[in-house]
Amino acid sequence: MGNGRMNTALQAINITKKYFKDGEPKFILRDFSMEVQEGQIISILGASGCGKTTALNVIGGFEKIDSGQVLLHGEKIKAPSFSMIMVFQDSHQLFPWLDLHDNIAMPVKKRYPKKPKAFYEKKACDMLEQVGLEGYGNYYPHELSGGMRQRGAIARALASEPDLILMDEPFANVDAITRDSLQDLLLGIWKDKGLTVVFVTHDIEEALYISDRILIMGKESGKVERIAKNEWKGLRKTKEDYFDEKERIKNEIMA
Ligand SMILES: Nc1ncnc2c1ncn2[C@@H]1O[C@H](COP(=O)(O)OP(=O)(O)OP(=O)(O)O)[C@@H](O)[C@H]1O
Ligand SMILES: [Mg+2]
Repeated sequence: MGNGRMNTALQAINITKKYFKDGEPKFILRDFSMEVQEGQIISILGASGCGKTTALNVIGGFEKIDSGQVLLHGEKIKAPSFSMIMVFQDSHQLFPWLDLHDNIAMPVKKRYPKKPKAFYEKKACDMLEQVGLEGYGNYYPHELSGGMRQRGAIARALASEPDLILMDEPFANVDAITRDSLQDLLLGIWKDKGLTVVFVTHDIEEALYISDRILIMGKESGKVERIAKNEWKGLRKTKEDYFDEKERIKNEIMA
């Protein structure tokens, strides 16, 4: 990246995924392909039920596929690993029996089992500070607000410095003001640390605000129909052409 060259972090190549319902096959992903360059935030937009969550689960190695392959830095993904971490929509994803500090330290320990305790402790403290939760390390999830828990979940996902962060509508369940601040938090950490993110959302404005590129999935085709370059990353709705782009994307999603 330093010399301007982009390295490919993720490749999903011609993925097909079907479920059986009452004995009938139902194709959710069909020839689904996408690529993510290191250091980019890529959003996936699409109508409800079009296969966004399924695509993330496949990328993360949580679901078997019928054909195709997923490569992370050229290595085939077959099972979940700590090199990719998922952040969900649900604000109850932190482990309820661990305090915030231990929630954040846990994946660091798993990823670097041979490092000394001080290493995990420091990572957890650094991340708490980064997401503005210093002083809350000894709070349990039920003692935090929904927005704080989501910040905690982001901190946990980032602490072990995964190669790829998978986010499935992570800010959908918080109020609009908290959502804006969580988007800013993500962009801030991205600028600071150079994250690579696949971000699923149904919120077009959110996609325009945080993404380098926006992948638009077909309503029923099970694949990416268009890759939109995005000029609005980091900009909140300003110009008229922003609304034109939003309208254009909306029409494509519903097409
Ligand atoms: N285990 C399953 N068995 C059968 N069908 C399933 C299963 N899981 C998902 N599906 C179907 O796959 C399709 C895609 O689901 P998915 O959760 O990926 O959609 P989505 O794009 O994330 O939707 P949303 O925006 O509502 O979260 C849906 O039609 C759903 O009914
Ligand atoms: Mg979903």
